[in-house]
Amino acid sequence: MSKKRSRRTWGLKILFAASEAHPLIKTGGLADVAGSLPAALRNLGHDVRLVLPAYPQALERLGEVETLATFEVVNAPEPVRLLGGRIAKSGVPVYLVDSPPYFQRAGNPYTSPNGADWQDNADRFALFCRAVVQLATDRLGLGWKPDLVHANDWQTGLIAPLLSFEPQRPATLFTIHNIAYQGVFDHAAFNRLQLPTPLWSMNGLEFHHHFSFIKGGIAFSDIISTVSPTYAQEVQTPEYGYGLEGLLHHRADRFVGVLNGIDYEVWNPNTDPLIEHPFDLDHLAKRRQNTRALQEEFGLPPDEDTLLFGYVGRLVDQKGVDLILQIIPGLMERTRIQIVMLGTGDLWLEQHLDEMAERYPDRVGVYIGYDEGRAHRIEAGCDAFLMPSRFEPCGLNQLYSLRYGALPVVRRTGGLADTVVDTHPETLANGTATGFVFDDPNASSLWSAVDRAALLYRERPEEWGKVMKNGMRQDFSWNRSAEHYVELYRRAIANPMPNPLVMG
Ligand code: ADP
Ligand code: GLC
Repeated sequence: MSKKRSRRTWGLKILFAASEAHPLIKTGGLADVAGSLPAALRNLGHDVRLVLPAYPQALERLGEVETLATFEVVNAPEPVRLLGGRIAKSGVPVYLVDSPPYFQRAGNPYTSPNGADWQDNADRFALFCRAVVQLATDRLGLGWKPDLVHANDWQTGLIAPLLSFEPQRPATLFTIHNIAYQGVFDHAAFNRLQLPTPLWSMNGLEFHHHFSFIKGGIAFSDIISTVSPTYAQEVQTPEYGYGLEGLLHHRADRFVGVLNGIDYEVWNPNTDPLIEHPFDLDHLAKRRQNTRALQEEFGLPPDEDTLLFGYVGRLVDQKGVDLILQIIPGLMERTRIQIVMLGTGDLWLEQHLDEMAERYPDRVGVYIGYDEGRAHRIEAGCDAFLMPSRFEPCGLNQLYSLRYGALPVVRRTGGLADTVVDTHPETLANGTATGFVFDDPNASSLWSAVDRAALLYRERPEEWGKVMKNGMRQDFSWNRSAEHYVELYRRAIANPMPNPLVMG
Protein backbone atom coordinates (compact mmCIF):
# COMPACT_ATOMS: atom_id res chain seq x y z
CA MET A 1 0.00 0.00 0.00
CA SER A 2 2.60 2.55 1.11
CA LYS A 3 4.94 1.69 -1.80
CA LYS A 4 2.15 2.25 -4.24
CA ARG A 5 1.33 5.52 -2.55
CA SER A 6 4.72 7.08 -3.34
CA ARG A 7 4.29 6.47 -7.08
CA ARG A 8 0.67 7.47 -7.12
CA THR A 9 -0.46 10.43 -9.17
CA TRP A 10 -2.57 12.62 -6.98
CA GLY A 11 -5.71 14.54 -7.87
CA LEU A 12 -6.20 17.86 -6.09
CA LYS A 13 -3.77 19.39 -3.61
CA ILE A 14 -5.70 20.42 -0.52
CA LEU A 15 -4.45 22.09 2.65
CA PHE A 16 -6.90 21.33 5.48
CA ALA A 17 -6.65 23.85 8.33
CA ALA A 18 -8.28 23.25 11.71
CA SER A 19 -7.71 24.03 15.37
CA GLU A 20 -8.10 20.38 16.45
CA ALA A 21 -7.91 16.92 14.85
CA HIS A 22 -8.27 13.41 16.22
CA PRO A 23 -6.05 11.62 17.31
CA LEU A 24 -3.73 14.57 17.97
CA ILE A 25 -6.01 16.83 20.00
CA LYS A 26 -9.77 16.82 20.53
CA THR A 27 -12.42 18.77 22.39
CA GLY A 28 -15.41 17.91 20.20
CA GLY A 29 -16.73 16.82 16.83
CA LEU A 30 -14.54 19.17 14.79
CA ALA A 31 -11.60 16.97 15.74
CA ASP A 32 -13.39 13.85 14.54
CA VAL A 33 -14.06 15.49 11.18
CA ALA A 34 -10.56 16.94 10.79
CA GLY A 35 -9.14 13.51 11.61
CA SER A 36 -11.32 11.48 9.28
CA LEU A 37 -12.27 13.66 6.28
CA PRO A 38 -8.67 14.24 5.11
CA ALA A 39 -8.07 10.48 5.32
CA ALA A 40 -11.21 9.79 3.26
CA LEU A 41 -10.13 12.37 0.66
CA ARG A 42 -6.72 10.77 0.41
CA ASN A 43 -8.40 7.43 -0.22
CA LEU A 44 -10.15 9.12 -3.15
CA GLY A 45 -6.70 10.01 -4.53
CA HIS A 46 -6.25 13.61 -3.39
CA ASP A 47 -3.11 15.03 -1.81
CA VAL A 48 -4.59 16.34 1.43
CA ARG A 49 -2.38 17.73 4.18
CA LEU A 50 -3.50 18.85 7.58
CA VAL A 51 -2.25 21.96 9.38
CA LEU A 52 -2.78 22.58 13.10
CA PRO A 53 -1.19 24.63 15.88
CA ALA A 54 1.60 22.74 17.69
CA TYR A 55 -0.12 22.10 21.02
CA PRO A 56 1.83 19.90 23.47
CA GLN A 57 -0.65 17.01 23.06
CA ALA A 58 -0.38 17.18 19.26
CA LEU A 59 3.42 17.16 19.37
CA GLU A 60 3.44 14.24 21.75
CA ARG A 61 0.95 12.16 19.79
CA LEU A 62 2.40 12.88 16.36
CA GLY A 63 5.74 11.41 17.42
CA GLU A 64 8.60 12.08 15.05
CA VAL A 65 8.58 15.51 13.44
CA GLU A 66 11.11 17.50 11.43
CA THR A 67 11.57 21.24 11.26
CA LEU A 68 10.68 22.29 7.73
CA ALA A 69 11.02 26.06 8.06
CA THR A 70 11.63 28.86 10.54
CA PHE A 71 10.00 32.15 9.62
CA GLU A 72 8.77 35.52 10.81
CA VAL A 73 5.07 36.22 11.27
CA VAL A 74 3.71 39.76 11.79
CA ASN A 75 3.15 40.33 15.50
CA ALA A 76 4.52 36.95 16.57
CA PRO A 77 6.47 37.08 19.83
CA GLU A 78 9.33 35.10 18.27
CA PRO A 79 10.14 33.34 14.96
CA VAL A 80 7.70 30.55 14.16
CA ARG A 81 8.66 27.04 13.13
CA LEU A 82 6.81 24.77 10.75
CA LEU A 83 7.10 21.14 11.80
CA GLY A 84 6.21 18.19 9.59
CA GLY A 85 5.03 14.71 10.50
CA ARG A 86 2.42 12.14 9.54
CA ILE A 87 -0.51 10.51 11.33
CA ALA A 88 0.62 6.91 11.59
CA LYS A 89 -2.74 5.22 11.11
CA SER A 90 -4.19 7.23 8.24
CA GLY A 91 -0.92 8.31 6.59
CA VAL A 92 -2.17 11.91 6.42
CA PRO A 93 0.78 14.38 6.37
CA VAL A 94 0.57 16.99 9.12
CA TYR A 95 2.11 20.43 9.48
CA LEU A 96 2.28 21.93 12.96
CA VAL A 97 2.65 25.68 13.42
CA ASP A 98 5.00 25.96 16.37
CA SER A 99 4.92 29.14 18.42
CA PRO A 100 5.63 27.99 22.01
CA PRO A 101 4.54 31.24 23.73
CA TYR A 102 1.10 30.81 22.13
CA PHE A 103 0.54 27.08 21.88
CA GLN A 104 2.76 25.30 24.40
CA ARG A 105 0.29 25.64 27.27
CA ALA A 106 -1.60 23.38 29.64
CA GLY A 107 -5.38 23.34 29.17
CA ASN A 108 -7.13 22.93 25.84
CA PRO A 109 -6.81 24.77 22.52
CA TYR A 110 -9.21 27.51 23.59
CA THR A 111 -9.22 27.67 27.37
CA SER A 112 -6.90 27.54 30.35
CA PRO A 113 -7.13 24.60 32.79
CA ASN A 114 -9.77 26.49 34.81
CA GLY A 115 -12.01 26.76 31.75
CA ALA A 116 -11.59 30.48 30.97
CA ASP A 117 -10.92 31.50 27.37
CA TRP A 118 -7.28 32.36 26.76
CA GLN A 119 -7.13 36.16 26.84
CA ASP A 120 -4.99 36.25 23.70
CA ASN A 121 -7.06 33.91 21.50
CA ALA A 122 -7.29 36.58 18.78
CA ASP A 123 -3.49 36.83 18.68
CA ARG A 124 -2.97 33.07 18.82
CA PHE A 125 -5.30 32.20 15.98
CA ALA A 126 -4.34 35.23 13.88
CA LEU A 127 -0.78 33.92 14.05
CA PHE A 128 -2.00 30.49 13.00
CA CYS A 129 -3.94 31.96 10.03
CA ARG A 130 -0.94 34.02 8.92
CA ALA A 131 1.33 30.99 9.06
CA VAL A 132 -1.19 28.99 7.00
CA VAL A 133 -1.23 31.77 4.39
CA GLN A 134 2.56 31.60 4.10
CA LEU A 135 2.38 27.85 3.73
CA ALA A 136 -0.45 28.01 1.20
CA THR A 137 1.40 30.47 -1.01
CA ASP A 138 4.57 28.38 -0.73
CA ARG A 139 6.43 31.30 0.72
CA LEU A 140 8.07 28.84 3.11
CA GLY A 141 9.77 27.17 0.14
CA LEU A 142 8.46 23.62 0.58
CA GLY A 143 7.81 23.27 -3.17
CA TRP A 144 4.14 22.45 -2.54
CA LYS A 145 1.31 24.81 -3.28
CA PRO A 146 -2.27 23.68 -2.63
CA ASP A 147 -5.03 24.17 -5.18
CA LEU A 148 -7.38 24.92 -2.31
CA VAL A 149 -7.33 25.68 1.41
CA HIS A 150 -10.18 24.07 3.35
CA ALA A 151 -10.58 26.12 6.54
CA ASN A 152 -12.79 25.17 9.48
CA ASP A 153 -14.54 27.32 12.08
CA TRP A 154 -13.63 30.77 13.37
CA GLN A 155 -10.08 29.95 14.38
CA THR A 156 -9.24 29.74 10.66
CA GLY A 157 -11.52 32.63 9.62
CA LEU A 158 -8.72 35.05 8.68
CA ILE A 159 -7.15 32.73 6.11
CA ALA A 160 -9.48 33.63 3.22
CA PRO A 161 -9.40 37.41 3.88
CA LEU A 162 -5.60 37.38 4.07
CA LEU A 163 -5.34 35.26 0.93
CA SER A 164 -7.53 37.76 -0.91
CA PHE A 165 -4.50 40.09 -1.04
CA GLU A 166 -2.39 37.45 -2.81
CA PRO A 167 -2.19 37.69 -6.61
CA GLN A 168 -1.91 33.92 -7.16
CA ARG A 169 -4.08 32.69 -4.34
CA PRO A 170 -5.36 29.13 -3.97
CA ALA A 171 -9.14 28.64 -3.89
CA THR A 172 -10.82 28.61 -0.48
CA LEU A 173 -13.62 26.64 1.18
CA PHE A 174 -14.79 27.51 4.67
CA THR A 175 -16.79 25.05 6.76
CA ILE A 176 -18.98 26.24 9.61
CA HIS A 177 -19.15 23.53 12.27
CA ASN A 178 -20.93 25.71 14.77
CA ILE A 179 -22.04 29.30 14.14
CA ALA A 180 -22.51 29.99 17.85
CA TYR A 181 -18.73 30.26 18.19
CA GLN A 182 -17.66 33.26 16.13
CA GLY A 183 -14.34 34.62 17.39
CA VAL A 184 -15.56 38.17 17.97
CA PHE A 185 -13.09 40.66 19.48
CA ASP A 186 -12.93 44.43 19.86
CA HIS A 187 -11.56 47.00 17.44
CA ALA A 188 -8.45 47.35 19.58
CA ALA A 189 -7.62 43.71 18.83
CA PHE A 190 -7.96 44.37 15.12
CA ASN A 191 -5.50 47.27 15.44
CA ARG A 192 -3.12 45.34 17.67
CA LEU A 193 -2.95 42.53 15.14
CA GLN A 194 -1.93 44.97 12.40
CA LEU A 195 -4.33 43.47 9.92
CA PRO A 196 -4.58 45.21 6.52
CA THR A 197 -6.77 48.31 7.11
CA PRO A 198 -9.15 47.67 4.17
CA LEU A 199 -10.37 44.61 6.10
CA TRP A 200 -12.00 46.92 8.64
CA SER A 201 -15.17 47.37 6.60
CA MET A 202 -18.80 46.28 6.55
CA ASN A 203 -17.92 43.96 3.68
CA GLY A 204 -14.88 42.74 5.56
CA LEU A 205 -14.32 41.75 9.17
CA GLU A 206 -16.39 44.45 10.88
CA PHE A 207 -19.39 43.05 12.72
CA HIS A 208 -21.49 45.49 14.74
CA HIS A 209 -18.42 47.65 15.45
CA HIS A 210 -16.50 44.56 16.52
CA PHE A 211 -14.01 42.37 14.71
CA SER A 212 -15.22 38.93 13.65
CA PHE A 213 -13.05 36.02 12.58
CA ILE A 214 -15.92 33.86 11.34
CA LYS A 215 -17.28 36.65 9.17
CA GLY A 216 -13.96 36.66 7.33
CA GLY A 217 -14.38 32.98 6.43
CA ILE A 218 -17.94 33.52 5.26
CA ALA A 219 -17.43 36.76 3.32
CA PHE A 220 -14.18 35.89 1.51
CA SER A 221 -14.30 32.17 0.75
CA ASP A 222 -15.13 30.83 -2.70
CA ILE A 223 -17.49 28.27 -1.18
CA ILE A 224 -18.96 28.08 2.31
CA SER A 225 -20.28 24.85 3.70
CA THR A 226 -21.82 23.63 6.89
CA VAL A 227 -22.19 20.15 8.27
CA SER A 228 -25.79 19.19 7.45
CA PRO A 229 -28.44 20.30 4.94
CA THR A 230 -30.96 21.21 7.65
CA TYR A 231 -28.45 23.38 9.56
CA ALA A 232 -27.62 25.15 6.26
CA GLN A 233 -31.26 26.22 6.13
CA GLU A 234 -31.55 26.98 9.85
CA VAL A 235 -28.57 29.36 10.01
CA GLN A 236 -30.21 31.54 7.37
CA THR A 237 -32.89 32.40 9.97
CA PRO A 238 -32.56 34.78 12.96
CA GLU A 239 -33.31 31.97 15.41
CA TYR A 240 -30.16 30.02 14.48
CA GLY A 241 -27.93 32.46 12.58
CA TYR A 242 -26.49 34.40 15.57
CA GLY A 243 -26.56 37.61 13.54
CA LEU A 244 -24.99 36.11 10.42
CA GLU A 245 -28.23 34.91 8.82
CA GLY A 246 -28.35 37.90 6.44
CA LEU A 247 -24.81 37.40 5.14
CA LEU A 248 -25.36 33.66 4.72
CA HIS A 249 -28.59 34.23 2.90
CA HIS A 250 -26.84 36.75 0.67
CA ARG A 251 -24.20 34.11 -0.13
CA ALA A 252 -26.73 31.29 -0.52
CA ASP A 253 -25.57 30.48 -4.08
CA ARG A 254 -22.19 29.51 -2.67
CA PHE A 255 -23.40 28.00 0.61
CA VAL A 256 -23.98 24.25 0.89
CA GLY A 257 -24.83 21.73 3.64
CA VAL A 258 -22.78 18.52 3.50
CA LEU A 259 -23.55 15.91 6.13
CA ASN A 260 -20.53 14.72 8.11
CA GLY A 261 -19.48 11.12 7.90
CA ILE A 262 -17.92 9.10 10.71
CA ASP A 263 -14.78 7.05 10.86
CA TYR A 264 -15.98 3.47 10.51
CA GLU A 265 -12.63 2.13 11.69
CA VAL A 266 -12.47 4.08 14.95
CA TRP A 267 -16.20 3.51 15.54
CA ASN A 268 -16.71 -0.17 14.76
CA PRO A 269 -18.34 -2.22 17.55
CA ASN A 270 -16.80 -5.38 16.18
CA THR A 271 -13.17 -4.23 16.38
CA ASP A 272 -13.31 -1.42 18.95
CA PRO A 273 -10.39 -1.94 21.38
CA LEU A 274 -12.02 0.40 23.91
CA ILE A 275 -15.00 -1.87 24.60
CA GLU A 276 -14.88 -5.16 26.46
CA HIS A 277 -17.21 -7.32 24.38
CA PRO A 278 -17.05 -6.71 20.61
CA PHE A 279 -20.32 -7.38 18.78
CA ASP A 280 -22.11 -6.92 15.50
CA LEU A 281 -25.59 -7.26 14.06
CA ASP A 282 -25.46 -11.05 14.23
CA HIS A 283 -24.10 -11.20 17.78
CA LEU A 284 -26.31 -8.86 19.72
CA ALA A 285 -26.37 -11.03 22.83
CA LYS A 286 -22.79 -9.91 23.40
CA ARG A 287 -24.00 -6.33 23.44
CA ARG A 288 -25.82 -7.09 26.68
CA GLN A 289 -22.48 -7.88 28.32
CA ASN A 290 -21.33 -4.36 27.51
CA THR A 291 -24.44 -3.05 29.24
CA ARG A 292 -23.57 -4.95 32.39
CA ALA A 293 -19.94 -3.79 32.23
CA LEU A 294 -21.13 -0.21 31.80
CA GLN A 295 -23.39 -0.39 34.83
CA GLU A 296 -20.44 -1.65 36.83
CA GLU A 297 -18.09 1.01 35.51
CA PHE A 298 -20.56 3.69 36.67
CA GLY A 299 -21.16 2.02 40.04
CA LEU A 300 -24.78 1.04 39.26
CA PRO A 301 -26.27 -2.35 40.19
CA PRO A 302 -25.93 -4.55 37.10
CA ASP A 303 -29.62 -5.17 36.59
CA GLU A 304 -30.36 -7.23 33.46
CA ASP A 305 -33.81 -5.85 33.01
CA THR A 306 -33.05 -2.16 33.21
CA LEU A 307 -33.60 0.29 30.39
CA LEU A 308 -30.32 2.20 30.37
CA PHE A 309 -30.14 5.72 28.92
CA GLY A 310 -26.82 7.37 28.05
CA TYR A 311 -25.44 10.83 27.40
CA VAL A 312 -22.00 11.92 26.18
CA GLY A 313 -21.12 15.47 25.30
CA ARG A 314 -20.00 18.94 26.15
CA LEU A 315 -22.04 20.29 29.06
CA VAL A 316 -23.22 23.51 27.44
CA ASP A 317 -26.55 25.18 26.72
CA GLN A 318 -26.52 23.95 23.08
CA LYS A 319 -26.84 20.31 24.11
CA GLY A 320 -30.01 20.67 26.23
CA VAL A 321 -28.47 18.81 29.17
CA ASP A 322 -30.66 20.90 31.46
CA LEU A 323 -33.71 19.27 29.85
CA ILE A 324 -32.34 15.86 30.80
CA LEU A 325 -31.81 17.11 34.35
CA GLN A 326 -35.41 18.28 34.47
CA ILE A 327 -36.83 14.89 33.53
CA ILE A 328 -34.59 12.76 35.76
CA PRO A 329 -36.76 13.02 38.93
CA GLY A 330 -39.84 11.92 36.93
CA LEU A 331 -37.92 9.07 35.36
CA MET A 332 -36.76 7.94 38.77
CA GLU A 333 -40.35 7.46 39.85
CA ARG A 334 -40.46 4.61 37.39
CA THR A 335 -38.83 1.31 38.06
CA ARG A 336 -36.04 -0.32 36.05
CA ILE A 337 -34.62 2.81 34.48
CA GLN A 338 -31.04 3.99 34.83
CA ILE A 339 -28.99 6.71 33.20
CA VAL A 340 -25.25 7.23 32.70
CA MET A 341 -23.81 10.59 31.76
CA LEU A 342 -20.32 11.65 30.66
CA GLY A 343 -19.30 15.21 30.01
CA THR A 344 -17.44 18.30 30.94
CA GLY A 345 -18.24 21.99 30.55
CA ASP A 346 -20.27 24.60 32.41
CA LEU A 347 -19.71 24.38 36.15
CA TRP A 348 -23.40 24.67 37.10
CA LEU A 349 -24.29 21.73 34.87
CA GLU A 350 -21.40 19.67 36.21
CA GLN A 351 -22.61 20.37 39.76
CA HIS A 352 -26.22 19.53 38.93
CA LEU A 353 -25.20 16.24 37.37
CA ASP A 354 -23.16 15.34 40.44
CA GLU A 355 -26.14 16.19 42.65
CA MET A 356 -28.37 13.84 40.65
CA ALA A 357 -25.84 11.03 41.04
CA GLU A 358 -25.78 11.62 44.79
CA ARG A 359 -29.54 11.71 45.01
CA TYR A 360 -30.09 8.50 43.01
CA PRO A 361 -26.91 6.49 43.58
CA ASP A 362 -28.33 3.23 42.20
CA ARG A 363 -29.92 4.82 39.19
CA VAL A 364 -27.83 7.73 37.93
CA GLY A 365 -24.13 7.35 37.08
CA VAL A 366 -22.11 10.47 36.29
CA TYR A 367 -18.53 10.98 35.19
CA ILE A 368 -17.37 14.57 34.88
CA GLY A 369 -14.35 14.70 32.63
CA TYR A 370 -13.16 13.83 29.18
CA ASP A 371 -12.73 10.10 28.64
CA GLU A 372 -12.67 8.58 25.20
CA GLY A 373 -12.91 4.99 26.41
CA ARG A 374 -16.03 5.71 28.43
CA ALA A 375 -17.60 7.48 25.45
CA HIS A 376 -17.19 4.29 23.39
CA ARG A 377 -18.45 2.09 26.21
CA ILE A 378 -21.56 4.22 26.70
CA GLU A 379 -22.41 3.88 22.99
CA ALA A 380 -21.81 0.12 23.21
CA GLY A 381 -23.73 -0.44 26.42
CA CYS A 382 -26.68 1.92 26.75
CA ASP A 383 -30.06 1.06 25.24
CA ALA A 384 -30.97 4.59 24.22
CA PHE A 385 -28.85 7.69 23.73
CA LEU A 386 -30.18 11.16 24.64
CA MET A 387 -29.44 14.21 22.45
CA PRO A 388 -32.05 16.89 23.20
CA SER A 389 -29.95 19.62 21.55
CA ARG A 390 -31.35 23.14 21.14
CA PHE A 391 -29.35 23.23 17.93
CA GLU A 392 -26.98 20.69 16.45
CA PRO A 393 -25.04 21.53 13.28
CA CYS A 394 -24.48 17.83 12.59
CA GLY A 395 -23.87 15.82 15.74
CA LEU A 396 -21.73 12.73 15.65
CA ASN A 397 -22.82 10.95 18.80
CA GLN A 398 -26.19 9.98 17.32
CA LEU A 399 -24.30 8.44 14.37
CA TYR A 400 -22.07 6.49 16.75
CA SER A 401 -25.22 5.41 18.60
CA LEU A 402 -26.83 4.12 15.42
CA ARG A 403 -23.72 2.15 14.60
CA TYR A 404 -23.50 0.71 18.13
CA GLY A 405 -27.15 -0.21 18.50
CA ALA A 406 -28.18 2.49 21.00
CA LEU A 407 -31.43 4.08 19.89
CA PRO A 408 -30.99 7.85 19.61
CA VAL A 409 -33.60 10.11 21.21
CA VAL A 410 -33.06 13.46 19.48
CA ARG A 411 -34.59 16.85 18.89
CA ARG A 412 -35.58 17.54 15.27
CA THR A 413 -32.86 20.06 14.47
CA GLY A 414 -29.77 20.30 12.23
CA GLY A 415 -27.99 17.05 11.56
CA LEU A 416 -30.15 15.21 14.09
CA ALA A 417 -33.17 15.83 11.86
CA ASP A 418 -31.21 14.61 8.84
CA THR A 419 -29.99 11.35 10.35
CA VAL A 420 -32.56 9.89 12.74
CA VAL A 421 -35.97 8.58 11.60
CA ASP A 422 -38.70 8.69 14.23
CA THR A 423 -40.40 5.44 15.26
CA HIS A 424 -44.14 5.31 14.57
CA PRO A 425 -46.44 2.73 13.02
CA GLU A 426 -45.58 3.64 9.44
CA THR A 427 -41.79 3.72 9.88
CA LEU A 428 -41.94 0.53 11.92
CA ALA A 429 -43.87 -1.12 9.11
CA ASN A 430 -41.59 0.03 6.30
CA GLY A 431 -38.39 -0.64 8.23
CA THR A 432 -37.05 2.92 8.27
CA ALA A 433 -37.44 3.72 11.99
CA THR A 434 -34.09 4.27 13.73
CA GLY A 435 -34.84 6.28 16.89
CA PHE A 436 -37.12 8.79 18.57
CA VAL A 437 -37.49 12.38 17.40
CA PHE A 438 -39.24 15.27 19.16
CA ASP A 439 -39.85 18.86 18.12
CA ASP A 440 -39.84 21.41 20.89
CA PRO A 441 -36.76 22.29 22.94
CA ASN A 442 -38.41 21.72 26.30
CA ALA A 443 -38.57 19.07 29.00
CA SER A 444 -42.12 17.95 28.27
CA SER A 445 -41.35 17.18 24.62
CA LEU A 446 -38.24 15.28 25.64
CA TRP A 447 -40.30 13.47 28.25
CA SER A 448 -42.85 12.27 25.73
CA ALA A 449 -40.11 10.95 23.41
CA VAL A 450 -38.43 9.16 26.32
CA ASP A 451 -41.81 7.81 27.33
CA ARG A 452 -42.41 6.42 23.83
CA ALA A 453 -38.97 4.81 23.96
CA ALA A 454 -39.70 3.21 27.34
CA LEU A 455 -43.04 1.92 26.11
CA LEU A 456 -41.55 0.26 23.03
CA TYR A 457 -38.74 -1.23 25.08
CA ARG A 458 -41.10 -2.74 27.64
CA GLU A 459 -44.15 -3.63 25.58
CA ARG A 460 -42.71 -4.56 22.19
CA PRO A 461 -39.15 -5.81 22.60
CA GLU A 462 -39.10 -7.45 19.14
CA GLU A 463 -39.92 -4.11 17.54
CA TRP A 464 -37.19 -2.49 19.63
CA GLY A 465 -34.75 -5.06 18.23
CA LYS A 466 -35.83 -4.24 14.69
CA VAL A 467 -35.34 -0.51 15.16
CA MET A 468 -31.91 -1.20 16.62
CA LYS A 469 -30.97 -3.27 13.58
CA ASN A 470 -32.32 -0.66 11.16
CA GLY A 471 -29.98 1.83 12.82
CA MET A 472 -26.98 -0.49 12.74
CA ARG A 473 -27.49 -1.02 9.00
CA GLN A 474 -27.32 2.70 8.13
CA ASP A 475 -24.28 3.87 6.22
CA PHE A 476 -22.85 7.14 7.48
CA SER A 477 -19.30 6.46 6.33
CA TRP A 478 -17.40 9.31 4.67
CA ASN A 479 -17.52 7.99 1.08
CA ARG A 480 -20.45 9.98 -0.22
CA SER A 481 -19.70 13.17 1.71
CA ALA A 482 -16.01 13.14 0.78
CA GLU A 483 -17.02 12.96 -2.89
CA HIS A 484 -19.37 15.86 -2.34
CA TYR A 485 -16.48 17.92 -0.93
CA VAL A 486 -14.35 17.09 -3.97
CA GLU A 487 -17.12 18.42 -6.20
CA LEU A 488 -17.23 21.61 -4.11
CA TYR A 489 -13.44 21.97 -4.28
CA ARG A 490 -13.62 21.79 -8.08
CA ARG A 491 -16.43 24.32 -8.12
CA ALA A 492 -14.46 26.70 -5.90
CA ILE A 493 -11.37 26.39 -8.08
CA ALA A 494 -13.36 27.02 -11.26
CA ASN A 495 -15.41 29.95 -9.87
CA PRO A 496 -13.38 32.26 -7.66
CA MET A 497 -15.47 34.55 -5.53
CA PRO A 498 -14.99 38.23 -6.48
CA ASN A 499 -13.24 40.16 -3.70
CA PRO A 500 -16.02 41.58 -1.47
CA LEU A 501 -13.92 44.69 -0.68
CA VAL A 502 -13.61 45.55 -4.37
CA MET A 503 -17.25 44.78 -5.08
CA GLY A 504 -18.18 47.45 -2.52
P1 ADP B 1 -19.79 18.77 19.43
O1 ADP B 1 -18.78 18.84 18.36
O2 ADP B 1 -20.81 19.86 19.37
O3 ADP B 1 -19.19 18.66 20.78
P2 ADP B 1 -20.48 16.15 18.26
O4 ADP B 1 -21.58 15.21 18.55
O5 ADP B 1 -20.27 16.53 16.86
O6 ADP B 1 -20.67 17.43 19.20
O7 ADP B 1 -19.10 15.51 18.70
C1 ADP B 1 -18.72 15.31 20.00
C2 ADP B 1 -17.51 14.40 20.03
O8 ADP B 1 -16.79 14.60 21.23
C3 ADP B 1 -17.88 12.94 19.99
O9 ADP B 1 -16.84 12.21 19.37
C4 ADP B 1 -17.97 12.61 21.48
O10 ADP B 1 -17.82 11.26 21.76
C5 ADP B 1 -16.85 13.43 22.04
N1 ADP B 1 -16.99 13.83 23.43
C6 ADP B 1 -17.68 14.91 23.89
N2 ADP B 1 -17.57 14.99 25.23
C7 ADP B 1 -16.80 13.96 25.61
C8 ADP B 1 -16.29 13.51 26.89
N3 ADP B 1 -16.58 14.14 28.00
N4 ADP B 1 -15.49 12.42 26.89
C9 ADP B 1 -15.21 11.78 25.73
N5 ADP B 1 -15.64 12.14 24.53
C10 ADP B 1 -16.42 13.23 24.46
C1 GLC C 1 -19.63 21.16 15.96
C2 GLC C 1 -21.11 20.90 16.14
C3 GLC C 1 -21.49 19.48 15.92
C4 GLC C 1 -20.79 18.88 14.72
C5 GLC C 1 -19.29 19.06 14.85
C6 GLC C 1 -18.51 18.49 13.67
O1 GLC C 1 -18.90 21.10 17.11
O2 GLC C 1 -21.57 21.36 17.39
O3 GLC C 1 -22.89 19.39 15.74
O4 GLC C 1 -21.09 17.50 14.61
O5 GLC C 1 -19.00 20.42 14.93
O6 GLC C 1 -18.88 19.08 12.45
